[in-house]
Amino acid sequence: MVNFQKKPNGSVTVVPSLLSCDRSDLLSAVRPILSNFSVALMHVDAMDGRFVPSFGLCHKSLSNLRRAIECSFASCPQFAVHLMVRRPSAFWHDFAAVGASEIAIHFECDDGAAALARQIKSAGVRCCLAINPETKFSSCVHLLEHFSSILIMGVKPGFGGQDILPWTVEKVRTAADHRSSCGLKYDICVDGGVRCENAANLAEAGADRLIAGSAIFRSSCQKTAYGNLVSLLGG
Ligand code: DX5
Ligand code: ZN
Repeated sequence: MVNFQKKPNGSVTVVPSLLSCDRSDLLSAVRPILSNFSVALMHVDAMDGRFVPSFGLCHKSLSNLRRAIECSFASCPQFAVHLMVRRPSAFWHDFAAVGASEIAIHFECDDGAAALARQIKSAGVRCCLAINPETKFSSCVHLLEHFSSILIMGVKPGFGGQDILPWTVEKVRTAADHRSSCGLKYDICVDGGVRCENAANLAEAGADRLIAGSAIFRSSCQKTAYGNLVSLLGG
């Protein structure tokens, strides 16, 4: 199994986000990259139509995709699930049961984040704290001791294909400064608007994982698009 936590050589992990894929045939959508690269981690967006006005993948789709990948490839990536839902307490068990390695819950959700993180971790699943673009890093800083990673949204959550908001790089830098000054070890992930044009800046600011949807899956050649991001980031 390929480890997706911080790489010792300091390179950044590129994480394909499946939101922009054709949901009727996810295996075909991921085949170009899984056939050509060792992909450590994939990002799955789940939504409730309330926290955001759209819907993502359900745990059954994730389970089917995992099974299909295991039948077609020698190894299967791990899956990180991003719960863009008001009550993650009602969703996370189903995703943990189908093998999610990490579950991200939003700081802005209606459940208590610290208590929920404890429950998720006690099930052996890593827990990530996601924050919306308008949420200041300083408002969630007290919670970070409970989480193994932070997911900084670079766009308004719920939709792929948006441009990254201009303050995202500074937010990553603020998180990286906090992490080193407090001696913490959480991973810093950026989700939304990641492209070749901004990936190096995000990495230089301290990001460990860059989650990319449309930059890969809406490209005319997914293999090239993923490969370009990986080479840019020294992966
Ligand atoms: C958006 C999702 C993202 C989405 C990113 O709310 O959380 O994971 O797939 O898509 P791009 O990379 O197109 O911004
Ligand atoms: Zn996401």
